[in-house]
Amino acid sequence: MSHQLATLLDEQRRFPPSPEFAAQANAQAGLYDEANRDRLAFWADQARALEWIEPWRTVLDWQPPHARWFDGGKLNVSANCLDRHLRGPRRNKAAIIWEGEPGDRRVLTYWDLAREVNRAANALKALGIKKGDRVAIYLPMIPEAAVAMLACARIGAIHSVVFGGFSSESLRDRINDAAAVAVITADGGYRRGQIVPLKRFADQAVAGCPTIKHVLVVQRLMGTASSEAGATMTPGRDYWWHDLVRAADAKCAPEPMEAEDLLFILYTSGTTGKPKGIVHSTGGYLTQVTATTRWVFDLKEEDVFWCTADIGWVTGHSYVVYGPLANGATVVMYEGAPDWPARDRMWEIIARYGVTVFYTAPTAIRAFMKWGTEHPAAHDLGTLRLLGSVGEPINPEAWIWYQQHIGGGRCPIVDTWWQTETGAIMITPLPGVTTTKPGSATVPIPGISAKLLDAQGHVLEKGGGFLALTEPWPSMLRTIYGDDARYHETYWSRFPGRYFAGDGAKLDEDGYWWVLGRVDDVLNVAGHRIGTMEVESALVDHPLVAEAAVVGKAHELKGQALAAFVILKEGNRATAQLRDDLKDHVARKIGAIAKPDDIFFVADVPKTRSGKIMRRLLKDIAEGRALGDTTTLADPNVVAKLKDQYESEEG
Ligand code: PRX
Repeated sequence: MSHQLATLLDEQRRFPPSPEFAAQANAQAGLYDEANRDRLAFWADQARALEWIEPWRTVLDWQPPHARWFDGGKLNVSANCLDRHLRGPRRNKAAIIWEGEPGDRRVLTYWDLAREVNRAANALKALGIKKGDRVAIYLPMIPEAAVAMLACARIGAIHSVVFGGFSSESLRDRINDAAAVAVITADGGYRRGQIVPLKRFADQAVAGCPTIKHVLVVQRLMGTASSEAGATMTPGRDYWWHDLVRAADAKCAPEPMEAEDLLFILYTSGTTGKPKGIVHSTGGYLTQVTATTRWVFDLKEEDVFWCTADIGWVTGHSYVVYGPLANGATVVMYEGAPDWPARDRMWEIIARYGVTVFYTAPTAIRAFMKWGTEHPAAHDLGTLRLLGSVGEPINPEAWIWYQQHIGGGRCPIVDTWWQTETGAIMITPLPGVTTTKPGSATVPIPGISAKLLDAQGHVLEKGGGFLALTEPWPSMLRTIYGDDARYHETYWSRFPGRYFAGDGAKLDEDGYWWVLGRVDDVLNVAGHRIGTMEVESALVDHPLVAEAAVVGKAHELKGQALAAFVILKEGNRATAQLRDDLKDHVARKIGAIAKPDDIFFVADVPKTRSGKIMRRLLKDIAEGRALGDTTTLADPNVVAKLKDQYESEEG
């Protein structure tokens, strides 16, 4: 067991909510009773907080593993996020407060945002894009990312946002899997003082995408940077976003969507080399993201909410765009890196806009810790009243640091467990109700049922096991796009009738959940999901590589880092140069986030008699336990000897 995990499980500290926070909290303890009394009536009540064009007939139709929530109901997500706020005092309220990395700023009120979205929706329609079409979005963190998503939602097009850090090949594969008809990108974005040439990447991708008819390009870069970044336009296919949007009418009636119509596809890594297109639908998704935003982040009319996730991840979908905007909240959006131009950028932003609720990832918190307390201390963080964490287990040390140095000892912390597949938060404290324990995501939200299972699927009351969700929930994934068999197999076959999350967890004597991390071949690097097989495929794609095995190794900041074991084709020599080339090759194939930290050249990858890679052995080598000095790996017999030893240990 890693040191980090051991400290996690020894944690004894308790933090009850303050009476002041509890008294004003949106979510009170009674919610649990309400949900327990009648789960479906409870979710129906939450759905009633939305604006429906037509009411639903049935709350839930459950044909395992397929759920239909609010069947028969009609609504439009963009109308819920925009139109209904224009009728009252929120009309002139800031919806998005945006800051670019170079320091440029924009504020869009709900009125501004609605006009932009309506125009963009009309622009998409004018290109012939219609309900049910798939649109890829490959943008930096700029307001147009939210506008593009909402414009798709307005006309019933299904968006597939691809993180701007992914390579052109990753973009191409995602576009092709969804057969997208258009891609919305930008000439570039700013990241750590550099320009990310998104249009150039998009062009490389689209060259291999027969279904793409149109490329819309937001002009983000300033001055001459646009042409310098190589954003050339292909006539008849490419359009400047501002040309189309400016010319379009500012009124576009929202498309009435069935509750079960698709809202978006979001690709995430799985245990094979091919990412899965997670499918989310309209009514159930919006119901749960709206309710969880209100309960978990306790948003009030005057709050300023900053979720630091990129739009390319599910956290950006649910808690930068849909949840907060459906609640009529003000969100902060920031384009760039947290340490640019200096390591206090985040704290500067919090002070500048008076952020009240801040939601980020443990990886970021650990980096902030390492950079030193002087950075947050130099800014007034007194407006903060609630902090959140997401994406990976938070070690108690980071939790306490966050609580003291960012939260000033007064802000509750919500450690929220959920997944791309769950669509919305599932396990978390309610900030005014739940006594927190650093490192524990605590308990399922009202209306959600989680159970701890042993390998045979028996329910355990406490101890260690597998985390499963035992009842359907409104924002659950509906399937994997174009591959329903994989949906059955991945989530529902391990424990029939129950959703297996892929996470190992511990349940303590108070019924609190401690999520320990993935138990499958999926890694969590700096809060990002990466499949070992994806990286292995990228490595063997290199002409000199014969075979590759990738494992996660504990990493102080990133939680996990990638270590690759590579067998070269006959006659090739392992050199430092080749090691760098392979890292770059992976970055080109997938994106910089998938770059291995370590590459070990080996003569053999140890496999079990049944042919499975012995990942535990590789992990022990990568973490320095099995061998100590890994340079001995140059001896081809070393791994073979270790293998015998491990096999005898494992019986
Ligand atoms: O292993 C869990 C971890 O992140 C995985 C989901 O990753 P993704 O779909 O990319 O979504 C991340 C943002 C919702 C989970 O299977 N994870 C997420 N949140 C937590 C967590 N592990 C422990 N504690 C959390 N709060």
